[in-house]
Amino acid sequence: MHYIRLLRPVSMETTNRREEVLSVLLTITTDLGDSFFGPDEPLALGATLKTGSRARVLACQADQTSPLQWRAGMRVLKAQLRLREPLPREKTTVCIFARSSGDRSKTPSNRPYWRHGYEDGQTELIVPVSVDMIDRVCAPVSLRTLPLPKRADGDDASNDDEHSLELGEDIGESIARHIWDAGLVTASFLSDSCRSAAVMADILPVRRDRINVLELGCGVGILGTTVAGIIWETAAAQGQSLVEAHVLLTDVDEAEERARANIARAEGALERRRTHVGAQENGEEDEIEEKPRAQQVQLQYENLDWDDGRQGAFGPLAAARAWDVVVLSDCTYNVDSLPALVGTLSALHRHSHSLDANTATRVILATKPRHASEEALFGLLGEQGWSHRVVKRVPLPRVGAEDEGVEVYVLERKGGQE
Ligand SMILES: C[S@@+](CC[C@H](N)C(=O)[O-])C[C@H]1O[C@@H](n2cnc3c(N)ncnc32)[C@H](O)[C@@H]1O
Repeated sequence: MHYIRLLRPVSMETTNRREEVLSVLLTITTDLGDSFFGPDEPLALGATLKTGSRARVLACQADQTSPLQWRAGMRVLKAQLRLREPLPREKTTVCIFARSSGDRSKTPSNRPYWRHGYEDGQTELIVPVSVDMIDRVCAPVSLRTLPLPKRADGDDASNDDEHSLELGEDIGESIARHIWDAGLVTASFLSDSCRSAAVMADILPVRRDRINVLELGCGVGILGTTVAGIIWETAAAQGQSLVEAHVLLTDVDEAEERARANIARAEGALERRRTHVGAQENGEEDEIEEKPRAQQVQLQYENLDWDDGRQGAFGPLAAARAWDVVVLSDCTYNVDSLPALVGTLSALHRHSHSLDANTATRVILATKPRHASEEALFGLLGEQGWSHRVVKRVPLPRVGAEDEGVEVYVLERKGGQE
């Protein structure tokens, strides 16, 4: 899986033909940034501009004559996006995406990321990037969009934007504060499956009218925010009507600012989803304002370093609740930090059971195995009484290299265990 990344903010420029263009410097790399995309055939890129609900396709060029293409051996690409009309002052989103040879579409696909490998005839997924221009100036973060499922009543009139989560990432070469394959694929899989009672009861069971979910090593917050976005539908599919849902994202303090900004960014989308589910449960969409409604899911952030967590030293938010579910993605590649991570899982399990004897914290762990040493995780989990089973494997085809895959595990441990 590769990602289109902006290496600097998009800027407005005027060409020597006095044309206004958006100037873009981008690269296409893996999540680790350790290899550049090297396609057999040049990959055509496309771009769209969206102001409110008005979208238009932009002419994209590498310079004033050649089409915008990414070729094997490239490390960066400077692009000019030609504007057919002046860029508006109101917020306008620029999206840059790969135009796959299989489908010649001029707009980015809205398919769930985890299904791309199958449906594109095994071509590799290139994750699009977006950025907001506000008052004709580029916002300092790039955006990744995760489609959430449309309404269960087959509402075709609603806008795709109402059914997506946007996550902000840092612009530039650093790979910190970016999304990673395991989180993206797992979030996409959960969101696509959230109305399947059979799938969700196995992975994310909702057994009561309240649920508490904590994410470890959240990064930009992709997995926890997605869980917050689907929890009402997941509960409804399992015959539960939630009255309370808490999702707490945690990481080290360097991640705090971006995670909090993404929580703020998600608020509108979360509110719209809860309202839809409330309406469907009530069966009378026009009258939802008059009906008693479930409360909004509370999505919050708190620092939690696993070196503290393994000692049972939690901040006030993590300490306040018994956690039904802990989620984490792409947190197990650094073997040195595995003891602290597993210790934190066990400490959260003990803490939750001590607050509520009916709670036995389960864990949803997503990983894209990168090297054999990561297997040490399962030994450490076993030593602390955790069982593990794979609930989903998603293959990730790659061009010119061995295919990879994302694995989603459920970890369980008996209540009251020390
Ligand atoms: C590869 S990133 C994955 C981020 C996110 N889960 C995702 O899937 O996009 C690993 C995350 O683990 C966090 N992390 C690493 N060591 C940690 C520690 N000792 N305590 C808490 N978080 C830690 C990092 O800050 C980083 O956000």
